[in-house]
Amino acid sequence: MLRLTMFSVLLAPALLLRAADADFFEMKIRPVLAKQCYSCHAASKMGGLEATSRAGLEKGGGRGTALGEAGTLLRAVRYADPALKMPPSGKLSDAEIADLTAWIKGGAVWPESKAPAAAAGSAAWRITPEQRAWWAFQPVRKAAAPPVKLTSWPRTEVDEFVLNKLEAKGLRPVTPAPRLLRSHRTAAHGRRGGGV
Ligand code: HEC
Repeated sequence: MLRLTMFSVLLAPALLLRAADADFFEMKIRPVLAKQCYSCHAASKMGGLEATSRAGLEKGGGRGTALGEAGTLLRAVRYADPALKMPPSGKLSDAEIADLTAWIKGGAVWPESKAPAAAAGSAAWRITPEQRAWWAFQPVRKAAAPPVKLTSWPRTEVDEFVLNKLEAKGLRPVTPAPRLLRSHRTAAHGRRGGGV
């Protein structure tokens, strides 16, 4: 018991200190916000919440401030409130939620970027992590072809993407036109001569 108490007395302030660090924010918090939240909480401000600055979080959205232990951010990422689950597509990892919790408990330190906003091309211009997280700057990755039922049809991977969408709509691809029909069409086309 004594050891446990000492442990938490020693550990808790250390954790808070760490979470109040600029590095902690840059390494653990900003990337999560940029990757998981900015698609809906930057310019588009869904729910009225802009999550790209401390001021934005402090102001919060329609439900009030996002900061503080009772604020909407922690409520949303913990999936505790059935009406507010963020990000909507799936819960963050336990580690990410723990980091966000520690960060908010530590006062939600959001270090201002040192480089002032300057014209592109000047020496002071820097790409921020949010900008870097933009989808168009992500490396090209080979997308695995989606599953298809009619496995005999696709000849290339592109066909598999097409077939996957067709099957999702309950459609079947047409089979290639018979030879005769094809040559007929070619002939008909050819006969039109130079008039095309
Ligand atoms: C796909 C879009 C989308 C993503 C991604 C997303 N949100 Fe949301 N968020 C919404 C929408 C839409 C609402 C408004 C929901 C409502 O009012 O019922 C909302 C509301 C919120 C609110 C409540 C605002 C208020 O006061 O009503 C918080 C807090 C929040 N989001 C946090 C986050 C956090 C943190 C992340 C990332 C971990 C995130 N969201 C990711 C769409 C998104």
